[in-house]
Amino acid sequence: MTQRTLRSMAAEPFGQQQLPLLQYTGDSSGPAFSENREEPFHRWVNWIAGFSADLVRDCIKDYMKREEGLVLDPFAGVGTALVEAIVAGYDAIGFEINPFAALTARTKLEALRGNPKYVDDLLSQFESWMHEAQQQGREPASAPPKGFRSRIDFFSPSILPQVLLVMDFIDELDSGLRRDLMRIAFGSTLVSYSNYTYEPSLCTRPGADRPLVEEADVKGIIAHKLSQMRKDIEQASRIPTSALGEGTLYHESFFGCVHTGRLKPSSVDLIVTSPPYLNNYHYVRNTRPHLYWLGFAESRDELRELEEESYGTFWQTVRNGPRIDLQFDLPEVSQLVDEIRSQRTEKGQYGGPGWANYAARYFNDSWRFIQLVEKLLRPGSTAVVVVGNHIIQGINVEVDRVLSEMGHKCGLHSDSHILRKKRVGDSITNSSVRRGSADVSLYETAVALRKS
Ligand SMILES: C[S@@+](CC[C@H](N)C(=O)[O-])C[C@H]1O[C@@H](n2cnc3c(N)ncnc32)[C@H](O)[C@@H]1O
Repeated sequence: MTQRTLRSMAAEPFGQQQLPLLQYTGDSSGPAFSENREEPFHRWVNWIAGFSADLVRDCIKDYMKREEGLVLDPFAGVGTALVEAIVAGYDAIGFEINPFAALTARTKLEALRGNPKYVDDLLSQFESWMHEAQQQGREPASAPPKGFRSRIDFFSPSILPQVLLVMDFIDELDSGLRRDLMRIAFGSTLVSYSNYTYEPSLCTRPGADRPLVEEADVKGIIAHKLSQMRKDIEQASRIPTSALGEGTLYHESFFGCVHTGRLKPSSVDLIVTSPPYLNNYHYVRNTRPHLYWLGFAESRDELRELEEESYGTFWQTVRNGPRIDLQFDLPEVSQLVDEIRSQRTEKGQYGGPGWANYAARYFNDSWRFIQLVEKLLRPGSTAVVVVGNHIIQGINVEVDRVLSEMGHKCGLHSDSHILRKKRVGDSITNSSVRRGSADVSLYETAVALRKS
């Protein structure tokens, strides 16, 4: 089989340039998305990705047994695995509940077959429209989104009118690829000219000791993003469409995939995925600006639904609810959760009991996930699941081992590869560092689960 990747395609007659697609070094200490930052398509939106395009390509090379077949990413994020699978010539299906991530993943799939001309037109149309509007001092028709609250002004006074004009421009576009590309260009840049920042969670700039953003050339920043996107689409257009697989992104929870008939048992040839980590990274809160400013949400209730649907939910969602018990029988995991529950009980929801609820909900969802993996894989196929260990209330929780145990219980064979060791961790980890039990290294692992 010829592995038709962007890189190999570029080396073939259609392309001149070697694409910097694969740069996984395995020793980065930064968040996973940093490895995707320079790569075509993957650079459109920074997302806590869990893995790089490079890793996905390796998985396809190592585990895809057939010339044709289906790659699944149940937690697709902005579509790293789907893009790589399609470019390698395989069909791909992804599920993603976050509307901004889903928009991005779906648009990438469409843009891989898109005509770069559309984006040329879009870029020049956007630049001249904005230029004219600004020259004429046009009053924006758009307004800040209803229901969006921020502790300090999200955009400074000189920036807000520029943003509202961008929204006017988007409103005038017909729905379709051009509009989606424009929304992504806006969404992927909007925090950069706001008074908020990622550290890596969303917080005010002053809270992170950074100055407010008083001035910015919003048009220029978005135009730059669009021109990157245009370049990527132009490069991809050199790949004959017959060499690309078919991609589908469902903007819905993976957990319903069999029930809804999206996927049939034993139909998947390879799963490559990185579910949310057990680090309480709050995808919903961290994308609040995108969800509101792009019109995906108007109220807190809508965000709550999304939180409830999320794999593992979040500590904030379950910490003060009724005690959550495990819905499966694995004594090692029960002991682990009991141990967490017994820590700092005097702190209630902020101590062991609250965090045990979070861990229990996370593992209950992990169990549902692993059972689905077993059901969906074709015999002889593999699922590669990238997860890490986390320190919760001073206890080292090795999620990779838990998933392996769950896999065994479902009859899957497992094998783990440490992908990288990190020196610094997330907020939960820091709490253990403060408590002086920090001699545990943090790592990320690819757990390979094989169905015989
Ligand atoms: C670690 S990220 C995956 C990122 C992805 N590897 C990429 O390259 O962008 C986990 C993703 O799972 C999504 N997610 C959480 N619960 C989900 C569910 N029940 N169904 C589908 N997606 C879900 C989150 O919104 C988040 O984007």
